[in-house]
Amino acid sequence: DSPVPAAALPAVPVEPGPDPEARLGLRFPEGFGWGAATSAYQIEGAARDDGRGPSVWDTFAHTPGRVANGDTGDVAADHYTRYAEDLDLIRGLGLKSYRFSISWPRVQPDGRGTINQRGLDFYRRLVDGLLERGISPMATLYHWDTPQALQDDGGWENRDTAYRFAEYAAAVFGALGDTVPAWLTINEPKTVVQNGYIIGHHAPGIRDEPVAYRVAHHLALAHGLGVQALRATGSASRIGGALNLHPCYAADDDPATLERVRLYDGYENRLYLDPMFKGYYPEDVLADQGPSSPLAQAIRDGDLAIISQPTDILAVQYYTPIYVTTDGGTVQKWPTTEAAWQQVYPRGMYDILTRVSRDYAPASITVTENGLPCPDVIGVDGSVDDAARVSFLRDHLAEAHRAIQDGVPLESYHVWSLMDNFEWEAGYDQRWGLVYVDYPTQRRILKRSATWYRRVISDNLL
Ligand code: NOJ
Repeated sequence: DSPVPAAALPAVPVEPGPDPEARLGLRFPEGFGWGAATSAYQIEGAARDDGRGPSVWDTFAHTPGRVANGDTGDVAADHYTRYAEDLDLIRGLGLKSYRFSISWPRVQPDGRGTINQRGLDFYRRLVDGLLERGISPMATLYHWDTPQALQDDGGWENRDTAYRFAEYAAAVFGALGDTVPAWLTINEPKTVVQNGYIIGHHAPGIRDEPVAYRVAHHLALAHGLGVQALRATGSASRIGGALNLHPCYAADDDPATLERVRLYDGYENRLYLDPMFKGYYPEDVLADQGPSSPLAQAIRDGDLAIISQPTDILAVQYYTPIYVTTDGGTVQKWPTTEAAWQQVYPRGMYDILTRVSRDYAPASITVTENGLPCPDVIGVDGSVDDAARVSFLRDHLAEAHRAIQDGVPLESYHVWSLMDNFEWEAGYDQRWGLVYVDYPTQRRILKRSATWYRRVISDNLL
């Protein structure tokens, strides 16, 4: 879902290597939080059930030409109905942590005012089911499904949406309270900015680069107000933001390229990290936007204090590096996956974890997403052999382990994703799960990666 266009090099298929399950002998810290992640719109389905209101993704997916094959999240993996079976699946894999998201329009169909108790009840059942099975819930409050009614009033371009988010967050905290030990505010604000408001291939499908950075500020403000809302309840639960970070490298050794890399890093990483952890926006990005830009104008006195109030945990999502050329473009250096934007570079995991740890010193770090899409098929014997996923996860986990050895306070790691799901504009064509979903029957089949991961978890050893 990165908008950065890789130069048109031929895609090289990811090769799993001779034995992707070969042990590396890397032991993880006692109590390490092995996990997997999902999000509401991508798995739940039941788009009109129990009082759920429409979101921007319902609108977008139902607009012809927006999503591959005209796919929508109407049914998805039918998790809303099958959650009990899925809880057993999670338990069966031995996961210690399960990251999911709460659908804003299920809880607050109009994005303001009336709370839909039946929506909250679903998450109550889900959280209780996790706790009964000894799995730690990690809940994201916003994973892109803005209530359509708020979009009709300007969505994230409108500062008021940040306050509406805080109101919604307070309702969720009130209902689920201390039973969720870890909360995440906004999932990947950068993707909303870049894909939703610059490229426009995500909802709400807008293409307006200057305005996109006003959106960035309102998302940051929403994060801060969400943190405040949790603190106001006196909860002992932890909270933080969830950022997709891209290590940026020079594609050549022209000294001029380093300047380009620096600004690229500003837009990819510091634009989201600096306000959250340092209470300012990066100078280079502000200068590049200019004093009368929508970003500059959106920032009001006191906002940065709200945005930068201390959090308990930083959620990092790592998928791909970016190689910047001397003219400010990007090139592909490593094999890509089925997602054309993703190059496979495990070392980037180490680089990004050690970098955020050094530059921002978060109290604790969790990797909330890492994974790849594979062309998974059910074999004649009924199994799904995703050897490339096993080697991808193994190699990235080895780099995460190395970061831990070097002092990074990484407490948990979540594979994206628990199961195949609605991959936004790519629809159901891309399969990202540890678990295969046979959509016509909704049958779940453990892929090779799932059984491999189960063993890694039970041994706490890679
Ligand atoms: C990040 C997003 O949070 C998630 O929704 C998406 O499916 C994965 N990346 C894969 O693109």
